Amino acid sequence: MRQKRGLTLGVFSAKGGVGKTTAVANLGAALAQKLKGRVIIVETNMTASNLGLHLGILDPPVVIQDVVFGRIKITEAIATTDYGLHVIPGSVAFTEELGSIDLRGIMEDLRKKYDVIIIDSAPGFGLEVFAGMKACDELLICCQPRVPAIAGTLQTFRAADHLKIPVFGVVLNRITGKRFEIPTSDIKRTLGWPTLVEIPEDDMVEEGVTRGVPVVLHAPNSPAAVEYRKLAQAVLAHLRARKRVAQRRKRKVTKRGIRRKR
Ligand SMILES: Nc1ncnc2c1ncn2[C@@H]1O[C@H](COP(=O)(O)OP(=O)(O)OP(=O)(O)O)[C@@H](O)[C@H]1O
Ligand SMILES: [Mg+2]
Repeated sequence: MRQKRGLTLGVFSAKGGVGKTTAVANLGAALAQKLKGRVIIVETNMTASNLGLHLGILDPPVVIQDVVFGRIKITEAIATTDYGLHVIPGSVAFTEELGSIDLRGIMEDLRKKYDVIIIDSAPGFGLEVFAGMKACDELLICCQPRVPAIAGTLQTFRAADHLKIPVFGVVLNRITGKRFEIPTSDIKRTLGWPTLVEIPEDDMVEEGVTRGVPVVLHAPNSPAAVEYRKLAQAVLAHLRARKRVAQRRKRKVTKRGIRRKR
């Protein structure tokens, strides 16, 4: 029997603070409503880990840094929530020096266990960012409709291209409609990015972070929550399409095998 191989989707942006961790926590929580226990979010921002905080996990007993330093296996660092989302948190107190990391190898055991693995990344292009990117099958790029974030997104597209990792889509976050913003229609038309969702600026997001509950659960009817659920729907449709392609491929291989036997 063929081994299960979950989709590893990484959320990246060269610019910091644009909403990667918020997107990971909410996409994970929204997907868990359908894929209970079959979706995991993973901290790969080793030097400023705060994914756990978004889920109310303040001081986890085991963390991704323990895995990276070879102290435990990745499956021993899994924390669970009562809404079916699994998470590998990081330590908010980490201050050690990082050597080279092979996150792709480390992540292998999760691919056999989960349908979707979502990676939360550090900003910029340091060692940990490339290690995280190399572990991904596809990327989601988080952006805000402001000049520095757009410049960062162009950089992230280039890095993905360099590593030959497809970009599944762009999440445009914190849209206010104010005059200084670059209109989303311009972003789509001029840059031609595969924009999946447009998430508005929404106080409920920050309120959810303070309470340690993703906004899709904290305020399910808030405008941002509605958009994060749309993002989850897009990922679910993508998973179904991938499954159909894999089944077709399998049927072709089996038919070929039967023909050869005859
Ligand atoms: N749509 C939104 N409306 C209001 N606040 C938001 C929204 N999205 C994110 N935020 C807030 O913006 C801040 C930064 O978000 P977040 O930590 O997710 O960014 P990040 O890209 O992960 O940052 P870093 O690069 O430092 O890892 C958080 O306080 C979060 O609550
Ligand atoms: Mg973050």
